[in-house]
Amino acid sequence: MGRKTWFSIPASNRPLKNRINIVLSRELKTAPEGAHYLASDFTSALSLLDSPELEKQVDQVWIIGGSALYKEVMESPGSKRLFVTRVLKQFDCDTFLPDINMDKYKLLPEFPAVPTGLQEENGVQYKFEVYDSVDN
Ligand SMILES: NC(=O)c1ccc[n+]([C@@H]2O[C@H](COP(=O)([O-])OP(=O)(O)OC[C@H]3O[C@@H](n4cnc5c(N)ncnc54)[C@H](OP(=O)(O)O)[C@@H]3O)[C@@H](O)[C@H]2O)c1
Repeated sequence: MGRKTWFSIPASNRPLKNRINIVLSRELKTAPEGAHYLASDFTSALSLLDSPELEKQVDQVWIIGGSALYKEVMESPGSKRLFVTRVLKQFDCDTFLPDINMDKYKLLPEFPAVPTGLQEENGVQYKFEVYDSVDN
């Protein structure tokens, strides 16, 4: 995750449980308190996973934002899967998921354990979407 995403998580919930939390920053010199690792770019973050310490522990990599990191990863080569929640209501926002390039991703009709159809919580409707990259 990017630095701002890390600091947007309430301190009491950091690090995210049962996950190795890697924070990306070009400015920080040491990992923020509670984070497991700091990486100065996405390639370095992935390289960490090949270390003897981590390679036996890691079986999935989740990129959890923010915007620039999503964009970089969505456009990078290699197979990816996007788990998207579409909130069907307008809100004033200042941070956005980049547009999904439909030449590079296809929407799956369904995905195990992901509910299909319209969901609703507190009067706000939303739906889950799962996309797979098509070039791999
Ligand atoms: N709804 C969601 O699913 C979701 C997901 C994620 C975040 N968010 C929200 O979005 C907001 C934060 O997102 P954001 O886009 O503003 O910021 P962000 O991506 O979390 O953080 C931006 C910072 O991360 C570092 N960074 C990002 N990409 C990097 C890279 N490739 N290499 C090295 N460093 C990199 C840089 O830190 P330095 O400036 O330290 O170099 C950059 O200034 C928060 O409010 C968060 O709650 C929501």
